Amino acid sequence: MASASATLLVPATSAALTAPPACPSNHSKKTATARGRRSLSCRATGGRGADEGLLWLPRRDVLAGLTGVTAGIAVHPDLAAAALQAELEESCRRGEKVTDRLLECTDSGLPCPPSSRGVQIVDFTPAGEAKRVRRPVHLLDKEYAEKYKEAVARMKALPGSNPCSFTSQAAIHEAYCDGHYRFDPTEKNRPFDVHFSWIFAPWHRMYIYFYERILRGLIGDDTFALPYWNWDAPAGMALPAIFKDRDSPLYDPNRNQAHLDALVDLDFINSRGKPIPFDKNLAAQPAYDEAVNKNLSTIYQQQIRSGKGARCFLGDKLCSATSLRVKETNDRSKRRQDSSSKLKRGNTSGSLERMAHSAVHVWIGRSKADQGTCAAGHDGKPHCSNDMGFLGSAGRDPVFYSHHSNVDRMWHLWATKLGGTGGFDDPEWLDTSFVFYDYFDEAKGEEPKLVRVRIRDVLDTRNLGYTYDAESEQALPWMNRKPTPLVPRGGSPSTPATKPAAVFPLTLIPDQLVEVPSVPRPGKDGDKLQVLVIEGIEFDPTNGAKFDVAINLPKDLAPKVGPQYSEYAGSFVSVASSSDTGSGGTLEGKLTLVLDDVLADIGASGDTVDVVLVPRAGEIKINLPLRIQNDDFC
Ligand code: C2O
Repeated sequence: MASASATLLVPATSAALTAPPACPSNHSKKTATARGRRSLSCRATGGRGADEGLLWLPRRDVLAGLTGVTAGIAVHPDLAAAALQAELEESCRRGEKVTDRLLECTDSGLPCPPSSRGVQIVDFTPAGEAKRVRRPVHLLDKEYAEKYKEAVARMKALPGSNPCSFTSQAAIHEAYCDGHYRFDPTEKNRPFDVHFSWIFAPWHRMYIYFYERILRGLIGDDTFALPYWNWDAPAGMALPAIFKDRDSPLYDPNRNQAHLDALVDLDFINSRGKPIPFDKNLAAQPAYDEAVNKNLSTIYQQQIRSGKGARCFLGDKLCSATSLRVKETNDRSKRRQDSSSKLKRGNTSGSLERMAHSAVHVWIGRSKADQGTCAAGHDGKPHCSNDMGFLGSAGRDPVFYSHHSNVDRMWHLWATKLGGTGGFDDPEWLDTSFVFYDYFDEAKGEEPKLVRVRIRDVLDTRNLGYTYDAESEQALPWMNRKPTPLVPRGGSPSTPATKPAAVFPLTLIPDQLVEVPSVPRPGKDGDKLQVLVIEGIEFDPTNGAKFDVAINLPKDLAPKVGPQYSEYAGSFVSVASSSDTGSGGTLEGKLTLVLDDVLADIGASGDTVDVVLVPRAGEIKINLPLRIQNDDFC
């Protein structure tokens, strides 16, 4: 069936085709009010779009007729679903291509960026040299800190109708991660999301780059670069002071009040115990030291141990096929319904996204228990983890951009210093492009400008005219924080023979660990990596989800496992995100973990390993048996 898939390329019929903007334009009348709490208006963009002069007409357009979605033709639902599934699986083999055609925001009354019709799109021109340096927020001098505040104040003062306003900038993130872009407007259930795949790192690099450009334009200072929250260094492991002053434009009331002055937990997903007050003078205390060490090990794991290849570090290919599993039901008419209302995108994020990045979002966002200011989302339901703790609203907190500046730096360090080479070779990735609004001065009568930027344009930050400060790069405190064993070498061996086999699907509930004994491990094949694959991870995206994976660890010690220990292989993490699941929907995820260092560090030599899954948050199901395979890359 897979070979039946095809992409039909036909010449575009109109020269005046434009792309959807990645920034709400000033054409929208019903823009957000009251700090963007209400839904933005979304103008349907209709069936237009161009991809380098060709219309990318996926086979599913033809299949749309087959399924009767648009044409109302009665076709056996099994046949239609199977055809669609096969077509999507084929596209997953090479990585799904993101095209303007597929990214049309056609909902109404939702925060879609409205039409960019009439706005000229220019191609991005690489800068070629790094003229600007991004520095740690906590080390800014007074003058630089004032500049940062002034620039954000000016951005916040722009009317929401201006695409460069803070409201509009925040809405870009919301539209791209809260289900308002669809692969195909006729398939309501296939939202496009900039998280959970290999799109994550480059899209966010582009997004904050244009945010930075607008800030620079607003203060007329060509040297300004977006400061980063240096949470990977002990002195930066708390919300920087500049964001805490109530009178500052960088302040946001929707943060977890208990965490404002606390040492950040880079492995955080839900509250456990009392936060440790952040105080560099406490550095001698064991609990403080332990927490700092755990944070440093988390970054070591994220960047080095788990980041052995682009797929493991940046995330797997974008593939919406995981979204298209038709729920099995005996009632055929119900099956059609399920396939249209519950089909979801998957989560195949890499360690860059899953680890410190996710933890900081949840750490800063309001906790579930603290529902002081729940804000209604576009779906009308309250979202109490606002702002940072819920991806749809995260861009409303000014700290988001400095947080992502450090996430971006982590990618930069991985690519330059850690030999990660930047990313993937696949043209589906390299040629993916997005358009963003550039700075323009409305008061001077300047017209809005859109810039098209491709992933290949942003692999090297020098092309974007910036780099990160060399000082911090010279002494990365996590570089030598290799995890240490929880079980001393020669300590209690596991006893696989007595353990009952795991029965799938497995249900993971916080605090109830699940053993998967005797997972076969193929013999080492040359330079290939030994990779543990956990597929069919089902979870509810409206709440956070997390489980840790430990190797050959006795059950009684497993709850202690974390990034600071050698037995830790990694975690599956999902930040609460889109509310587009309607009632009771689930997403499917996949976790790929390189085991080579873990196995070497714990001295595992057998032809099977015992995996222990330690659930930390959310209710999760694992539908498919675990496997270990030899892969050329990760
Ligand atoms: Cu788009 Cu940190 O999220």
